[in-house]
Amino acid sequence: MVIFLLIPCIIYLLVRKYFSKKDIKNVANKHIVVIGGSSGIGKSIAQLAAKNNAHVTIIARNIDKLTQAIDDIRKCSVNLSEQRISYVSVDVTNFEDIENNLCEIEETIGPIYMLVNCAGFAVCGEMENFSVNQIKSLININILGTIYPIKAIIPKFKQRKEGIIVLTGSLVSLFGMYGYSIYSSCKFALRGLAESIHMELKPFGVTVTLALPPDTDTPGFHEENKTKPIETSKISAMGTLYDPDEVAKKILQDALDGNFFSYIGFNGFVLTTLCKGFSPVRNFIQIFVESAVIGLIRFISAFYVVQMQKIVQHCFDEKEQKKKEQSKNKYS
Ligand SMILES: NC(=O)c1ccc[n+]([C@@H]2O[C@H](COP(=O)([O-])OP(=O)(O)OC[C@H]3O[C@@H](n4cnc5c(N)ncnc54)[C@H](OP(=O)(O)O)[C@@H]3O)[C@@H](O)[C@H]2O)c1
Repeated sequence: MVIFLLIPCIIYLLVRKYFSKKDIKNVANKHIVVIGGSSGIGKSIAQLAAKNNAHVTIIARNIDKLTQAIDDIRKCSVNLSEQRISYVSVDVTNFEDIENNLCEIEETIGPIYMLVNCAGFAVCGEMENFSVNQIKSLININILGTIYPIKAIIPKFKQRKEGIIVLTGSLVSLFGMYGYSIYSSCKFALRGLAESIHMELKPFGVTVTLALPPDTDTPGFHEENKTKPIETSKISAMGTLYDPDEVAKKILQDALDGNFFSYIGFNGFVLTTLCKGFSPVRNFIQIFVESAVIGLIRFISAFYVVQMQKIVQHCFDEKEQKKKEQSKNKYS
C-alpha cells in the first residue's frame, strides 16, 4: 500500500526536477526591487537578478551594509553601462517612507516589475520570556514590513496589469515549532496575506509567490541561532542548512514561473504538499498527484512530529534532573 502511494510521489518529484528550469526567465531591463537586499537571501536574489541583466534596487536601513552590498551586486552585473544598480535606505515599518521611496524609485529607475519582500528576522525563546517590545518589533518587521510595501505597490501593478510580488515566509509559516511562537505567528500571517492578495490580483495579471525558505546560512540565521533554546537547536538540526544562493535561485525561478509556493528540498515538499489547503490551483496533474499522496505524507509528517516531541520531552527531563541535583547539592 505504502509503495503504491509512494510511486506517484517519487514520479512527481522526478518529473518536477527534470522539468525544473535550469535558467532564470528573461528579466533583462526589468526593474527588480529587493527589500532586505543588503544581506542574506535578499542580497543573493539581488545578485542573481543583476547577473541576469535586470535593473536592481535594494532597500534596507544600514547604509554601510547597503553600500557594501551594492559593490558586490555591481560585480555580478553583466552590462554595467546600461544596468541601474542602486540602493535606498528606508525603514520598511514606516508606511509613508516606504510608499514615497517606492514612488521615487519608479520615477528615477523605471516601473517596478518585481517586488521582493525579504526584510525580516527571528528571535527565538519560550513564549513567556519575550518582552512586549520584542513581540512588537517582530510583528512590525515581519508582518507590517511586508504589508506596507505591498499596499504601496498594488495600485501601480493593477494599473499596469503586470507585476510580481514575493513574500518571504518560512517553513514555520506552515507549522508551529518550539521556540518560534512569535516568529511563526508572524510568518503564518503572511500566508493569509499571500492567498488573499493572490485572489485579488489574479484578474489583473499580477502574480504572488510565498517563499518558504528552510534554514539558510545567512547573517540573520546566525543572529537567530544565538537566541535558540536547546530544544529549538536540536529540532532544527533535523533539517539541512542551505546556501542562500541556492535558495535565492529557487525563489526567483518560482516567482518568474508564477508559482504560488516556493520551497526547496524534501522537507519543503512534504510540508508544502500537506499544507496546500485552499491555496491557488494551477495545474491539474499536480492536484491529482498531491491528492494521491497526501495520506502518505501525513503519515511521514507524524514521524517528524513524534521525533520533535521526543526531543522536547528529553530536554525537559534533563532540565528536571539537573534541578533535582542542584537542590540536592544545595541542602547537602
Ligand atoms: N535565513 C534563514 O534561515 C531563513 C529561513 C526562513 C525564512 N527566512 C526569512 O528570510 C528573510 C531574509 O532572511 P535572512 O536570513 O536573509 O536575513 P538577514 O541576513 O538578516 O537580512 C535581513 C535584511 O533585511 C533588512 N531589514 C531588516 N529590518 C529592516 C527594516 N525595518 N527595514 C528595511 N530593511 C530591513 C536588513 O538590513 P538592515 O538591518 O540594514 O535594515 C537586511 O538587508 C527574512 O524574512 C527571514 O525571516 C530566513
